[in-house]
Amino acid sequence: MSRKVIIAGNWKMNKTAAEAKALVEELKPLVANLDADVVVCPTFTSLTAAVDAAAGSNVKVGAQNIHWAENGAFTGEISAEMLKEIGVEYVIIGHSERRQYFGETDATVNQRLKAALAAELTVMVCVGELLEEREGGLTEQVLGTQLRGGLADLSQQDMAQVVIAYEPVWAIGTGKTATPEMAEETHAYVRKVLVDLFGSETAETVRIQYGGSMKPGNSAELVGQVNIDGGLIGGASLKADSFAELIKNAVS
Ligand code: PGA
Repeated sequence: MSRKVIIAGNWKMNKTAAEAKALVEELKPLVANLDADVVVCPTFTSLTAAVDAAAGSNVKVGAQNIHWAENGAFTGEISAEMLKEIGVEYVIIGHSERRQYFGETDATVNQRLKAALAAELTVMVCVGELLEEREGGLTEQVLGTQLRGGLADLSQQDMAQVVIAYEPVWAIGTGKTATPEMAEETHAYVRKVLVDLFGSETAETVRIQYGGSMKPGNSAELVGQVNIDGGLIGGASLKADSFAELIKNAVS
């Protein structure tokens, strides 16, 4: 089964609208002929600038979060429909920083995911274990719980719009990457859970990204693993040349 590589840049709380526009303009020619889904995820206020700059190219734009309600009294929140309207096609849900700092749980991941699917956004759902969980031998248990809770009630059809991002929390922004073997072992486990939930035919089609200090120097080896189908990139996605090089190496 060949799954198309998907590489997304999670810009986090970086890049003003003007900076986002400039970065997308610089990135477009560098990734124009690469056989991968290329996504950039700027902050909310930079989305329109990024969508406009990416128009007609193979760079797609995603948001970093959404609220689960369609509209209503939720001061400070943004709905899936609002993003869809301005040309956003992807959204990251359940990033570890949202779980750690903003009280995100598997239940709220599930609610946001359903809202995103209803608006026909493609979702990158993040899962990953903490260092103490890895060291305590709890990685599979933690991931199983996150996946079963986050993906609760979804159908096989829904999974066509879902990408899983496995991001070991201890590897995010730390410069520590899981070895390709360690990452592959965990990705294989994630796929096993997907088989349990949705059957093997569907599970084989779902793309699983690795995230956590992926760089131009390690993307080829990581994405070369059987169950690693791309990456969710923080730091290395903030410069066009390094991000393009990372993608080029990943698809090589
Ligand atoms: P990093 O972040 O590439 O800077 O480690 C990845 C992420 O948080 O998605």
